[in-house]
Amino acid sequence: MELVKLEFQYTDDVTVINREQFDVHMRLYEGYINKINEIDKLLMKEPDLEGANSTYSKFRGLKRGETYALDGVILHEFYFENIGGYETQPDDMIKRALDRDFGSYDKWKKNFVATAKASRGWAILCFDPRSNRYRNISLDAHDVGNVQISIPLIVLDMYEHAYFLQYADNKAEYINKFMNNIDWEVIKARFESCL
Ligand SMILES: [Fe+2]
Repeated sequence: MELVKLEFQYTDDVTVINREQFDVHMRLYEGYINKINEIDKLLMKEPDLEGANSTYSKFRGLKRGETYALDGVILHEFYFENIGGYETQPDDMIKRALDRDFGSYDKWKKNFVATAKASRGWAILCFDPRSNRYRNISLDAHDVGNVQISIPLIVLDMYEHAYFLQYADNKAEYINKFMNNIDWEVIKARFESCL
């Protein structure tokens, strides 16, 4: 079954990036949707399994593209959903959870900002059910650095395409704007889904 693009409209609630930056980003997201659908079709119709080779093969190309495109779709949807909000604050349930695993909400925040600065792809607060812990993880690409079965809770795109048009090389300003405008209502629903 084909993946269908979710509709994200630019509104005044999207306070982290301007419309131009948003539109560019949305086109990239559409590109990942198109590519995963193209790859899935090719995987369905007799891919060259016999020629599979880890140095180079068409099948390897499809397998590399499959997780890159699909994780690109999933992470962008989480990101677009959580970049609204007007300087609201997380509620006590979220703060207690972050206190438990990071020492305090402020310590989590500092750690997340550092994680974002250290990332070439994504910074993610996730819940890892295997160790029953919240973790800030750093991805260098959509499918490089993920923790299996972890659930994304806060997702920040740190690819240069996410901010460079608007913020140029001022990565810190982009991260700061994101931290101050996280949509905590969306995040709360994600926290509750893994309780
Ligand atoms: Fe992106």
